[in-house]
Amino acid sequence: MAQLWGGRFTKETDKLVYNFNASISFDQKFFEQDIRGSKAHVTMLAKQGILTREEQEKILIGLDRIYEDVKSGRLEITDKYEDIHSFVEANLIERVGEAGKKLHTGRSRNDQVALDMKLYVRDEIDELDAQVKKLLYALQKIMEENVHTYMPGFTHLQKAQPVTLAHHVGAYFEMFKRDRSRLYDIRSRMNTCPLGSGALAGTTYPLDREYTAMLLKFDSATLNSMDSVSDRDYIIELLSALSTIMMHLSRFSEEIILWNSNEYQFIEIDDAYSTGSSIMPQKKNPDIAELVRGKTGRVYGALMTILTTMKGIPLAYNKDMQEDKELTFDAIDTVKGCLALFTGMISTMQFKKENMEKSAKNGFTNATDAADYLVNHGIAFRDAHGIVGRLVLLCIEKGISLDELSLDEYKAICPAFDEDIYEAISMKTCVEKRQTLGAPGPSVMENVLEENRRYLEKSSIEANRGRRF
Ligand code: ARG
Repeated sequence: MAQLWGGRFTKETDKLVYNFNASISFDQKFFEQDIRGSKAHVTMLAKQGILTREEQEKILIGLDRIYEDVKSGRLEITDKYEDIHSFVEANLIERVGEAGKKLHTGRSRNDQVALDMKLYVRDEIDELDAQVKKLLYALQKIMEENVHTYMPGFTHLQKAQPVTLAHHVGAYFEMFKRDRSRLYDIRSRMNTCPLGSGALAGTTYPLDREYTAMLLKFDSATLNSMDSVSDRDYIIELLSALSTIMMHLSRFSEEIILWNSNEYQFIEIDDAYSTGSSIMPQKKNPDIAELVRGKTGRVYGALMTILTTMKGIPLAYNKDMQEDKELTFDAIDTVKGCLALFTGMISTMQFKKENMEKSAKNGFTNATDAADYLVNHGIAFRDAHGIVGRLVLLCIEKGISLDELSLDEYKAICPAFDEDIYEAISMKTCVEKRQTLGAPGPSVMENVLEENRRYLEKSSIEANRGRRF
């Protein structure tokens, strides 16, 4: 057991206590960030004359070597050390001697861990953003190919009005675009550097905190050292944003599961993304979509856990906060895994366009348009609604769709109907006439697709700065 704080203690820590307290099994995840932070700290200490340039040089080389050795597998991170900070410092001292003992000057593990976690989360936000962007590209492709693919739009899971597949998928495009903007907001708000806050009350060394902040690509240094070592708001925000991403993925997964069912037959999931049953030979299950839906609960759980952990903690640092790590890492890895698989699944999925269109026709999704036809022929909407209702009943009795009724049958219920009713209630007319901004009409859809293309060409900063949603 290699601890940094043996001096004040007279007894060896009990093994159970040691294990309970230790975090090395999980905080090694930010090993790279810990080294990066230490390098910036040492560079600043030397600039301020707290360490000599020679000591700085020795430490920097030592830290780089430790990094390379761990990455290449020559050096193993073991539970002989309490946490990743102790591992790095002990190894440094072993390698560079006296100079290594000065690494921790003017620093506490409290501001160190606050920094490491921020660096880690910031890096992961950038990766998550890139992954959501990949998903958006996949959605955009489906949209571009399906501006004229008619399908039923639903409310209450009842067929309501015809839309297009481009329009339906476009709804998810908007959701994931907002998800990127949430990640961007969190990144901007959290981008202040806690290093130099010490245990809680700063330090008496003349640190240049703005300099370290600049070296580590933060916008500025934090302004209150007690807050710096105990702020986990950004983790709560991240887990909330991740929960929202999962909620969106889960809703979409649910639709994919429905669309893949025998009753809908709107899609065919690629063999690579489905599995069979060990007993029922006919089965091809949408496991990936189900797993994504299932894993949503796990990410929500992380959010609830951290909210609960933080609610009773007095200022400043308390060990409870060590609990922020495993759940955050797990949530990030879960979302990254789900995004990658989901993107692969929808990119390889086949759409059965004829089935979609047939389903829209059979579900009377053009009934509103039939009523609108009568309104255009001078009948009040409420009356038109009643007339079309009776037509729908007739169709149900006969087991046909509205466009299969004869003109005589139309006229028998309302003489205002004429030959052009068939054109007026065709799927094509119903969809293409819907040209209000945001509607499925192909002409407005093309404008949206163009806007999406411009959005995707921009960097995250350009795309999200001052955006209206
Ligand atoms: N492993 C600790 C954590 O994750 C690091 C900070 C420890 N600080 C302390 N005073 N024991 O929060």
